[in-house]
Amino acid sequence: MRKRLIATLPLLAVALLIRHVEAAEQAPSGASLYRHECVPCHAPGATATLMLAKRLGEKKALLTERDDLDPYYIRMVVRTGINSMMPLSRVEVTDNQLDAITRFLTH
Ligand code: HEC
Repeated sequence: MRKRLIATLPLLAVALLIRHVEAAEQAPSGASLYRHECVPCHAPGATATLMLAKRLGEKKALLTERDDLDPYYIRMVVRTGINSMMPLSRVEVTDNQLDAITRFLTH
């Protein structure tokens, strides 16, 4: 019995490792989450881009071209909204997804 257990343990470890790798591959990247959740409004020429161009100038209109965005600011804006941007709930964008999007925008 014990021998059998010892023999199956490595197999179990390999099986768990494969599942882990698969899960990591399936998690969408920050870039693709950004495309899905934010680009509908933040694409060139879209509402958010036009509003930001008005408020902050053309150079700061596209989020992907910014290098002055702080991760805390992005999270705060997404969770509480800003002017005409409605907040996004944890149901729409989970905390992990928001972290991935924030990393994409700040790196
Ligand atoms: C339904 C449309 C919409 C969606 C979806 C949306 N936004 Fe926005 N966002 C806006 C609008 C409009 C503004 C400009 C508000 C203003 O300044 O008047 C804005 C502004 C922002 C700002 C403020 C920039 C600054 O310098 O003040 C950040 C940061 C931002 N959005 C991040 C995001 C992120 C990240 C996502 C995706 C998770 C997202 N937004 C999704 C509409 C949207």
